[in-house]
Amino acid sequence: MNQADKPKLLIVEDDEGLQRQLRWAYDDYEVLVASDRASAIDMVRAAEPAVVTLDLGLPPDPDGVSEGFATLETILALKPDTKIVVATGHGARESALRAIASGAYDYYQKPVDIDQLGLIVRRAFQLHGIEGENRRLEERVGDDRMILGTMITAAPEMLKVARTIERVANVDVSVMLLGASGTGKELLAKGLHAASPRRERGFVAINCAAIPENLLEAELFGYEKGAFTGAVKMTEGKIELAEGGTLFLDEVGDIPLQLQVKLLRFLQERVIERIGGRKAIPVDTRIVCATHQNLEEMIRQGSFREDLYYRLAEIVVKIPTLAERHGDSILLAKHFLHKFAKEMNPLVKGFTPAALAAINSWPWPGNVRELENRMKRAVIMADAKLISAEDLDLEAGPERALPVNLKAAREETDRRVIRQALAKAEDNISSAAKLLGISRPTLYDLMKQYDLQPSLKA
Ligand SMILES: Nc1ncnc2c1ncn2[C@@H]1O[C@H](COP(=O)(O)OP(=O)(O)OP(=O)(O)O)[C@@H](O)[C@H]1O
Ligand SMILES: [Mg+2]
Repeated sequence: MNQADKPKLLIVEDDEGLQRQLRWAYDDYEVLVASDRASAIDMVRAAEPAVVTLDLGLPPDPDGVSEGFATLETILALKPDTKIVVATGHGARESALRAIASGAYDYYQKPVDIDQLGLIVRRAFQLHGIEGENRRLEERVGDDRMILGTMITAAPEMLKVARTIERVANVDVSVMLLGASGTGKELLAKGLHAASPRRERGFVAINCAAIPENLLEAELFGYEKGAFTGAVKMTEGKIELAEGGTLFLDEVGDIPLQLQVKLLRFLQERVIERIGGRKAIPVDTRIVCATHQNLEEMIRQGSFREDLYYRLAEIVVKIPTLAERHGDSILLAKHFLHKFAKEMNPLVKGFTPAALAAINSWPWPGNVRELENRMKRAVIMADAKLISAEDLDLEAGPERALPVNLKAAREETDRRVIRQALAKAEDNISSAAKLLGISRPTLYDLMKQYDLQPSLKA
């Protein structure tokens, strides 16, 4: 075999005799040798060896392990898929285990048994090859599961939604997206815009729930200079800014009644007047709106205008909750793991089996947003290669151990139910208390007792 075609093995070892001995032992590989941290790192950068054998005792600390660990961590930060086999002194089991916890693949004890080390190294190469192949496959699979450019799903319920969005994108009808918090309403609205003939023009979003009632009108319709105190210069509203593009009215159920009338007029006549202005300005924009509220119920109660509803909802798209999308919680967890690990903690590689079970069985009241937040926090906090159920702040699956006693069991249930209620109420303490059938002060007390914080939007 040509030297260049051989898989690369880097030996990091400061003992020259041992270097020579090891170099001879590995005929199947292209062997590189480094005797300290700096040259080892240089070689990893330049040659990207699949497997590294690493002596933990390197100069300037040949009798300790500090240099070895620093080298281990730097290599894994540079090339997380490198398989590192560490060599420890006789009886140094503790450093060996610490190395594994830090991401080393395996360890062996000096004095070196060449045959035994040869086996470990060969298995490391095999595993590296399999993992690489897996990653390539997974990336391809990932592509297939990407819809509308940005959404990840493999669930038929969600693929159906995507197909509907793609179909209606081409026609200038108004679209209403109905879905619980965190189900991806905004992402779908953007996907719709990007799939529509208006994609070259602006996507303008306004969250009607986030803007105080008295400012919402100015925000939507704009105002002329001097229209009210503080109106120092003419300002275009969001509707006008969306000319040629798409206007996304988020949380449309929160528009106060008197403004609903004005919005309806715009939808009927397609012209607006800025506050304090007399000129009718024609605006050509595509309307997409979203809400997590039950508008039909609001219509019955008289807090949402039926005529406005029909203008906004020429097409209604119901977005399933994450729990209703079979298999998606795991798929999305993997997606977010790759994404956040790449950005923030490349050491993290996957999940423990208990974490996967917990992800699968958790009801995800805050949907994809909750999953994304938990994953981000877990990746930042994780101090091992695999994310655990605890990192995710989820209890392990059904096989989890029995609590020590009834009191502990009750506490555990209290915690879980309170967390779910908080998530469902989007951290609104009053609503959460109502859901739980207890008073607000009681909920506060319980949260204090269990050290629970509203955490969804963290
Ligand atoms: N299918 C998906 N694939 C990948 N990321 C997703 C998916 N669905 C949602 N997200 C991400 O989850 C987060 C929440 O999505 P989005 O803001 O679109 O939801 P929403 O329904 O508007 O939520 P809210 O009601 O809280 O406003 C975003 O960061 C979004 O990028
Ligand atoms: Mg939203």
